[in-house]
Amino acid sequence: HGYKYRIVDGLMVPPYVTPTRYNASRTVVTRPTDVCYCSFPKSGSTWLATVLYLLLNDGVEPEGRPLRSNLHWMESSWTYPRTQAEVDALPSPRIFKSHMPHRMALAGGPRNSPCKHIYIARNPKDVAVSYYHFESGKAWSGRYNGTWEHWLRIFTEGRVQRGDWFEHVLSWWEQRDAPNLLFLKYEDLKSDFRGQLRRIAAYLQVQLSAEAEERIVSATTFAHMRAAGFSNHKHIADFEGFFRKGEIGSWKDRFTMAQSEAFDKLCRQRMAGSGLEFDFE
Ligand code: A3P
Repeated sequence: HGYKYRIVDGLMVPPYVTPTRYNASRTVVTRPTDVCYCSFPKSGSTWLATVLYLLLNDGVEPEGRPLRSNLHWMESSWTYPRTQAEVDALPSPRIFKSHMPHRMALAGGPRNSPCKHIYIARNPKDVAVSYYHFESGKAWSGRYNGTWEHWLRIFTEGRVQRGDWFEHVLSWWEQRDAPNLLFLKYEDLKSDFRGQLRRIAAYLQVQLSAEAEERIVSATTFAHMRAAGFSNHKHIADFEGFFRKGEIGSWKDRFTMAQSEAFDKLCRQRMAGSGLEFDFE
């Protein structure tokens, strides 16, 4: 189906996540002032990253350099920094990005690193649909060209890049009591953005002035972010995948009644006893 991937440490990942890059990400030495955000793909990580950058910069959007260049992605062979020396040369506070399950976490995860980890999760039906559109994005060649039905099957079986959604999310949820992990949900950001913003600020020990809060609220709306075009990589400048709909419940556009019922059943089984729940509308 045109879908390209590689296996690293038993996990399906995009080809640009090489074993060397993965090892660099896993073993990087961080500082207590560093912020490391992580998610399964299509869970609102771009939105969260923008919030984090603005919180650490008094709500002022970057001039000149795209915001994205301030988010350090060790896993990717496309981006810098690559070595510990390059990481050490970056000014604090620094923001790191990852899409790994907890066992493969950046810097060994919350219990093995001093940085502040943040994980964001989103209801899996919306993730499946958002991911389908993203991987089918026509601006990237070599992308997925199968049907929605087939996509839903491989997503459900954990045979997509970054593996099984349930394993990914639950692996981080189990770590939620670590003092240097904040667990967020996309749906909470949608329903109570200011409340979540203050929660993140408190966790990062950032004093949030009323003015900075207003600046962040307006700079992180879906409409503003879409217009500003976070995706500053030239080759995906017109790529819609990062700002498609930005809503809760867009799974309804794709899931048939039967698919929805089967997925809900699987969800109840896989999430049973975890105490983790999501809003689907
Ligand atoms: P949809 O495809 O459902 O629209 P990620 O950044 O982790 O790749 O996640 C992408 C998803 O987050 C997309 O979901 C995108 O539209 C949504 N998103 C991006 N910016 C947003 C914002 N400011 N508010 C709400 N949703 C946003």
